[in-house]
Amino acid sequence: MEKFIVEGCDGLSGHVRVSGAKNAALPILCATVLCDGEVILEDVPELKDVEILCEVLRGLGVVVEHLDKNIYKLNAENITNTITGPELMSKMRASFTVMGPLLSRMGHTANALPGGCAIGTRPIDLHLKGFKALGADVITEHGMVTAKADKLVGTEIYLDFPSVGATENIMMAATLAEGETTIDNAACEPEIVDLANFLNKMGAEIRGAGTSIVKIKGVKSLHGCRHQIIPDRIEAGTFMIATAAAGGNVVIENVIPSHMRPVIAKLRESGIEIYENGDSINVISDRKFKSFDIKTLPYPGMPTDMQAQFMALATIADGISVIIETVFENRFMHVDEFNRMGANIRIDGKNAIVQGVKKLRPSKVRATDLRCGAALIIAALTVDGETEISDIYHIDRGYEDLVEKLHAIGAKIRRVD
Ligand code: EPZ
Repeated sequence: MEKFIVEGCDGLSGHVRVSGAKNAALPILCATVLCDGEVILEDVPELKDVEILCEVLRGLGVVVEHLDKNIYKLNAENITNTITGPELMSKMRASFTVMGPLLSRMGHTANALPGGCAIGTRPIDLHLKGFKALGADVITEHGMVTAKADKLVGTEIYLDFPSVGATENIMMAATLAEGETTIDNAACEPEIVDLANFLNKMGAEIRGAGTSIVKIKGVKSLHGCRHQIIPDRIEAGTFMIATAAAGGNVVIENVIPSHMRPVIAKLRESGIEIYENGDSINVISDRKFKSFDIKTLPYPGMPTDMQAQFMALATIADGISVIIETVFENRFMHVDEFNRMGANIRIDGKNAIVQGVKKLRPSKVRATDLRCGAALIIAALTVDGETEISDIYHIDRGYEDLVEKLHAIGAKIRRVD
């Protein structure tokens, strides 16, 4: 199994360019199923998750061409299959957002139930509630969920939780439904806005994306288009925190600062210098920062995908930090790994109490999920010596060219078999 060996450093410096957002690219790739024309996508991040989703789409009959690095051409004119089995679904649960487009375009879709993962059970009840409300018959049996409908009819749908995936799946299903659909308590993440912008470029009529009330007026059909994926705010935040923790002066390019408000505010509160310059952010740190409190919330609150990275910073902050995870029920798997490195973290239900220590120790640790892996790299940059991180396939799923980008700002990290 591959591992990362990360050497502690005494500061990062230079420029790093953020890639396109994984969590915008995945639903947008699914949305190409809705149209019978040619779609060109730019700034698609080169990730394992994107590779797997392209495999799922090819299995449905979509012609997927990898034209160049970060550029894909897709054509869903001939959908020849509407079933995605467990072998592909188990590799990546985000392919579940292919159901809404298939249901809307073909009137039928069957998907293996997406598994849970390290961070939680990941239910899909809100996705299915939306499909049923639009008039689909939904059956779950033998580990497969099947949805079919002669036609979908627009309606009002209230989401008990502003689920990102459910908002995306229902929004896509509603684009070709008859009449208007309103999603109430919709997720407001920037990735939802990027998906809505893409769908509208294809001829959909969506208003309110980015607010908690999204209205979709059904249209007859959608056509091809060209679209550039928005920058990845979580990757940008990860590099900001890496610089804060390791110290130094780094410019992070291809960023939309308005997507980063909670991350920028929290880092400034802890004493880190952050300068916003258009589409780049400059982070300057002397490795001295105060403790801070975090509560993860749906957008525009503190992203749950930034929680592990902030915890890495809190382990060596001056004072006691309280981190509350409200979005997922089991997203503290990284605590054991940090404590193995000499951190002093105690979990009490949804709360993690982090007593800052002077320094962490080099250790052998394991990436339990994508963001835990990134957070362990951050922690490893701050220690004196070499840290070994295993199960790094999680990290490759969500960070494009991570080793090269870290080398560019002076980090010493290498991949070993
Ligand atoms: C998306 O997952 C992201 N993944 C996650 O990023 C991110 O952490 C999450 O949104 C929250 O921002 C992609 O976009 C591919 P949710 P998703 O549905 O859509 C509950 C990463 O690291 N829920 O908003 O699966 C659920 O249990 C990944 O890039 C229901 O109860 O998240 C959870 O507690 C990790 N019923 C909460 O909502 C449902 O039907 C948030 O889940 C659906 C969700």
